[in-house]
Amino acid sequence: MEIKNILIAGGGMMGKNIAFVFSSNPAYNITVYDLYETDVHGGIRSNCASLKLAEGELDERLSRIGFTTDLDSELIKSADFVIEAVFEDMDVKRQTFAKLEERCRPDTIFCTNTSVMSPSEISRDLKYRERFVGTHFWNPGHLIPLVEVVKSDATSDETAQTVMEVLAGVGKEPVLCKKDVPGFIANRMQHALWREAISIVENGIADAETVDKAVRYSFGLRLPQLGPIENADMVGLDLTYNIHDYILRDLEDSHKPSPLLKQLRDEGKLGFKSGEGFRKWTPEEIAKSNAELNEYLVGMLYKD
Ligand SMILES: NC(=O)c1ccc[n+]([C@@H]2O[C@H](COP(=O)([O-])OP(=O)(O)OC[C@H]3O[C@@H](n4cnc5c(N)ncnc54)[C@H](O)[C@@H]3O)[C@@H](O)[C@H]2O)c1
Repeated sequence: MEIKNILIAGGGMMGKNIAFVFSSNPAYNITVYDLYETDVHGGIRSNCASLKLAEGELDERLSRIGFTTDLDSELIKSADFVIEAVFEDMDVKRQTFAKLEERCRPDTIFCTNTSVMSPSEISRDLKYRERFVGTHFWNPGHLIPLVEVVKSDATSDETAQTVMEVLAGVGKEPVLCKKDVPGFIANRMQHALWREAISIVENGIADAETVDKAVRYSFGLRLPQLGPIENADMVGLDLTYNIHDYILRDLEDSHKPSPLLKQLRDEGKLGFKSGEGFRKWTPEEIAKSNAELNEYLVGMLYKD
């Protein structure tokens, strides 16, 4: 099937950035559909301000990104490839796909950008479940290369393969998650690390800033180049075995969020959004942290 018409359902933060990603292929016409009027072009312009795009490139890309609030528009019916990025709510997602299925062709590929919900559950009531798959973009979607392509209990190999190819074709680094499990691949690892980090603070082993410093100046430096599996092979599986045999029994293995995390949340200490979380944050420190992350990502990913 030739893929030409891309539909992004949900024009919020992720939807806008995903639309921008697809516009890198000049063969694609992109439509963003949302319940409400939203300035898709303006949002993309401001999100992409730090990218070093060639003169006129953004205008050309935006010229292929349209917008509609009309579900009965031809732009919806003619979609070859849909990525849904509406609210993270099971009913809203199911209803969105039910409406799309009534309007799109049976072979239109359906993708959901859910962060944590099961693609099998989201697609449960659809008629053509084999063409449905999870595509978990990471925020900021226009910068982070990874997209986890998550097979549901009914996704066909062909659908997963096509989606992997389409994503690679717009510059992403898709990875296949062969089982529909909570957290897919990367968030399972990320939150295993966060659980241990919070536990170290909670148990008075080190304070919050020290925990982050310990990551930033050690294995954090290696991670963009060396994943944990290759790292285990590098140091040797005999050593890895002995380390795990000694240390694993002592690592945090709670199946519930930490009591410290709960306490901070209950006290309204929500981090950047309230000015205090594990530590206090001034508005200047918050702006600096956000700007430095963006600058770091752009510098790392778009080095000439
Ligand atoms: N924000 C993140 O860091 C992140 C990362 C990865 C994945 N996601 C996932 O992406 C999806 C979107 O997240 P976001 O951060 O862009 O949210 P958002 O709130 O910025 O945008 C959601 C958009 O969906 C629209 N919408 C809601 N119901 C709709 C419907 N029935 N039909 C059409 N449009 C509808 C809203 O008007 C809004 O514009 C969620 O599933 C989220 O979990 C978010």
